[in-house]
Amino acid sequence: MFNKITSWITAAFIVAGAALAAPASDTQAIQERAAEADFTIQNMALCLDANFINCITVPLVTGACVSMVGGLTGWNDSISSIHIPLGFACTFYDNLACLSSGTPDNGDSVTLQGGIYPSLVSIPGDNGVNVDFDNRVSSFLCSPATY
Ligand SMILES: *[C@@H]1O[C@H](CO)[C@@H](O)[C@H](O)[C@H]1NC(C)=O
Repeated sequence: MFNKITSWITAAFIVAGAALAAPASDTQAIQERAAEADFTIQNMALCLDANFINCITVPLVTGACVSMVGGLTGWNDSISSIHIPLGFACTFYDNLACLSSGTPDNGDSVTLQGGIYPSLVSIPGDNGVNVDFDNRVSSFLCSPATY
């Protein structure tokens, strides 16, 4: 009987301890993840000239292809420098509608990680060879990095 009560009390303390500790650490973990998550709108810069001259700031959209049509028609085949926010990667295509030909592609797309690209004259192509992508971008597709 005494043993039973002791083990019940011990179990109750363990449960109580877990109940007290778990929400505290959960709350902290949630707050840390919320601090990591950036809910502000991210922008990217697409520039007509090298070294970030004559730029347009575009809200960064993930998971959807953006073609240089409509309001971006004037930027078609005209981009010479790019700033992508950290935590994102964007693939730029020579063709409209994020279309690439060949497997691996024939150098008609490049994937750039978040960062600054003051020139597109010689950058690593998705075909593994450095390509001249200056004044070639006609569409792009961005995705978020995970953490
Ligand atoms: C944009 O450039 C592509 C070639 O990269 C061309 O096929 C297309 O017609 C151009 N579109 C416009 C609207 O200028």
